[in-house]
Amino acid sequence: SSQPFDLVVIGGGPGGYVAAIKAAQLGLKTACVEKRGTLGGTCLNVGCIPSKALLNISHKYEDAHKNFKGLGIKVDNLGVDWAQVQKKKGDIVGSLTKGIEGLFAKNKVSYYKGWGKFASKNEIAIDLNDGKKETITTKNTLIATGSEPTPFPGLEFDEKIIISSTGALSLQQIPKKMIVIGGGVIGVEMASVYQRLGTEVTVVEYLDNICGAIDLEISKAFQKILIKQGIKFLIGHKVLGGKNLGNGAEVTIEPVKGGDKITLTADHVLVSTGRRPYTQGLNAESIGVKLDNRGRIQIGHNFTTGVDGVYAIGDVVEGPMLAHKAEEEGIAVAEILSGKVGHVNYDAIPGVIYTSPEVATVGKTEEELKKAGVQYSKGSFPFLANSRAKANDDIEGFIKVLTDKKTDKLLGVHIVGPNAGEMIAEAVLGIEYGAASEDLARTCHAHPTLSEALKEACMSAHFKPIHM
Ligand code: FAD
Ligand code: NAI
Repeated sequence: SSQPFDLVVIGGGPGGYVAAIKAAQLGLKTACVEKRGTLGGTCLNVGCIPSKALLNISHKYEDAHKNFKGLGIKVDNLGVDWAQVQKKKGDIVGSLTKGIEGLFAKNKVSYYKGWGKFASKNEIAIDLNDGKKETITTKNTLIATGSEPTPFPGLEFDEKIIISSTGALSLQQIPKKMIVIGGGVIGVEMASVYQRLGTEVTVVEYLDNICGAIDLEISKAFQKILIKQGIKFLIGHKVLGGKNLGNGAEVTIEPVKGGDKITLTADHVLVSTGRRPYTQGLNAESIGVKLDNRGRIQIGHNFTTGVDGVYAIGDVVEGPMLAHKAEEEGIAVAEILSGKVGHVNYDAIPGVIYTSPEVATVGKTEEELKKAGVQYSKGSFPFLANSRAKANDDIEGFIKVLTDKKTDKLLGVHIVGPNAGEMIAEAVLGIEYGAASEDLARTCHAHPTLSEALKEACMSAHFKPIHM
């Protein structure tokens, strides 16, 4: 059409598609350009959703395998039909990506299947997936092109032997042995999936603890639990190099503090040492958009890039690479473009690791508070003392609550335990509303629920818990 768009969003991931729907709902004439062929970006296609599908299925298998007998449930001939597992995962992803296409239609977002790049700051040239080309004009553009796996020098991804998370989600069969380079979120989630299905998994992590940024006490407790489950960790080890052997791979590692080299072999090497921003072929720099020293699109106040009418959000800009962070930013940009006040509270963004038990955190870690010289109080409560966890026979883990020593305001909540990812929402709300631990401690929680453990951890921070 000849009328320019109010907003063209490049990238249909959680940042981009949410921004597009919100902008359309606010009355802006909106388009979204996505080259993948399906909407939902990394998260829906090769990230959050397929990984959670495999985590759920592998968890159920392991539960049946290890725990059902003790619960008095008899199962015979338990096994895994891997082709069906993969089909189920694909069905889940397919229904969700199609669902977003439906939401685009419902909200009248124009959807261009193709590669978008800047022809000028107000013109987006699209190489359509059907081979045609089209240039659309726009008043504003939102860059939401996301991220991709960072390759490891010398271990190029072939997605068969040397794999990123994308390959790990679609293996042809359950491997006998797997090496995971990087004990971060992807590392522990994928290690859990395959360890549960019988793979011998070794995780090599450079730092002295896994999942680096989380609260250290939680990280240590979490690692102990994963070790008990059977995952091997080589912490404080660096990878010197490796080789794709065609039918497997080898990796040579060395303790960071010095010591003997070790060579490990496996069917697959999963490289999960972080993701990098994706801006290839976008032509952003040619219109004056600047990248920072880590290749991320540099943004200022209100997600502006310094080029009039060009904004950026999500994994391609600074901040945690999380779907919900990208979504919040997408909503904020749509609101700002509609003359409203868009805002993201970066102090209240939860992080969840979907292992069993789960890890969930929000706010400051104890290490961060110490470093900043903040006077804090600490409360904690173990799931062992929670009646629902007992009833569910799922008692591992604890909750840790950090509050301002003087005002009792919640500063951080950290959980390793059953359903931590759902439970953290209450703590996020508390931080968002500026709650004190006493507020949560005096709020009635249904009995018997796991969420009572958060109430008791808050009681422990403010006065004393009842059940400890
Ligand atoms: P993306 O989702 O990466 O979307 C960007 C899209 O832009 C892509 O679809 C790409 O094809 C498209 N694109 C790029 N350039 C162009 C162009 N020039 N033209 C057209 N299209 C283009 N986060 C969580 O919060 N929870 C989780 O449980 C979780 N699990 C994850 C598991 C894995 C294995 C991985 C890899 C990631 C996971 N993440 C999770 C992170 C999450 O996927 C990202 O934070 C999120 O997808 C970022 O959203 P985004 O919209 O910024 O970018
Ligand atoms: P990550 O940053 O979480 O972890 C990378 C790990 O690799 C770190 O522990 C780091 O110390 C280690 N490492 C780096 N270089 C190394 C080396 N040379 N040798 C050994 N170890 C090395 O990155 P990851 O796991 O790849 O995930 C990428 C992003 O995807 C994360 O930022 C995360 O936010 C997102 N994600 C989120 C999930 C969730 O929310 N549940 C699930 C999966 C991914």
